[in-house]
Amino acid sequence: MKKVLVLGGTGFVGGHVCEKLVRAGWHVTVPTRRTVNARRVQHLPGLTVFELDVHNEMALARAMAGHDAVVNLVAILHGDATAFDKTHVILVQKMLRACRTAAVHRLVHISALGVNGERPGSAPSEYLRSKGRGEAVLLHPADPADRPQVTSLRPSVIFGADDKFLNLFAKLQAVLPFMPLAGATARFQPVWVEDVANAVVRSLQVGRHAVFPQIVEACGPEIYTLRQMVQLAARLGGVNEGLGRPVLAIPDWLGRLQARMMELAPGAPLMSRDNLNSMKVDNVATGKLPGLQALGIQPAALQPIAGDYLGCGQVSHGLLGIRNRNRI
Ligand SMILES: NC(=O)c1ccc[n+]([C@@H]2O[C@H](COP(=O)([O-])OP(=O)(O)OC[C@H]3O[C@@H](n4cnc5c(N)ncnc54)[C@H](OP(=O)(O)O)[C@@H]3O)[C@@H](O)[C@H]2O)c1
Repeated sequence: MKKVLVLGGTGFVGGHVCEKLVRAGWHVTVPTRRTVNARRVQHLPGLTVFELDVHNEMALARAMAGHDAVVNLVAILHGDATAFDKTHVILVQKMLRACRTAAVHRLVHISALGVNGERPGSAPSEYLRSKGRGEAVLLHPADPADRPQVTSLRPSVIFGADDKFLNLFAKLQAVLPFMPLAGATARFQPVWVEDVANAVVRSLQVGRHAVFPQIVEACGPEIYTLRQMVQLAARLGGVNEGLGRPVLAIPDWLGRLQARMMELAPGAPLMSRDNLNSMKVDNVATGKLPGLQALGIQPAALQPIAGDYLGCGQVSHGLLGIRNRNRI
């Protein structure tokens, strides 16, 4: 049985990736900072969870030994430049060296739509800049002969029953009389988490010497503005009997003030100034790179799927539920 090490396998996307890998017959190993974070996946047959500081390069190389492939899903959404650099760039450099030490030849990495592959520094947010630099480390290493075969998937915003996005907007509107919204005109191409997970598994199944896309834009079939997605979340979640709430687009300065206040509150912020910066560029496919179709996947539309999970009464848990769900 082939073995794969999944970094970040305990998270939202990681849970779905691990489940599909197990179903596809892989033995899956998931390192985590704390075993308690692995509740989503630890019951899966053929999956091993253990505690590891993935930033410890020697320990990482030891953990990789005996595996055929590595999947990297580790990321943070909030933090300062040092934290983004440590998680999105330095960890990737360590991962690459550890792959060499442990003779792992295949690596699937989750990047993000909006990174600028040629000029990572030109992206508008620290999240996107650091994700872009990390991807560049993988795709353009100092010594190309000495790296694993890499596929980097660039998803737009990801939706699914346990997402932190549509659920959040539906829950917020369940408790607020109206929805103040910064970045209302930003455009996204939401992709279903199952499609992203399938893309990871299919990327791993490509034979070692086969031609495979290095970068895949993982997007759904439709483009929505943020305002449209917020309105959809409320409608599909049955907020205010399906009518939703008035969405009030707020100017950039007020959005930044709101985000600053959220950053000062304890716990992970619902929205940071860096998140707002990310929305300064459209989060839609360029069309210049292969999409999910290149991996044989016809991406699913948002409404039928989100209608199923938002419509089953989950949206009334209040603000405490919102903060807990967004803890990283
Ligand atoms: N969700 C989206 O809409 C979206 C959109 C575009 C791209 N992506 C990308 O998709 C990937 C997965 O995202 P996700 O939504 O599944 O993220 P997530 O739910 O927040 O999971 C992130 C994982 O990373 C690990 N992690 C977090 N901080 C860490 C740190 N400082 N050191 C070591 N490990 C750490 C956590 O593992 P432990 O807690 O077990 O250690 C967790 O399992 C990421 O690369 C993300 O950038 C996501």
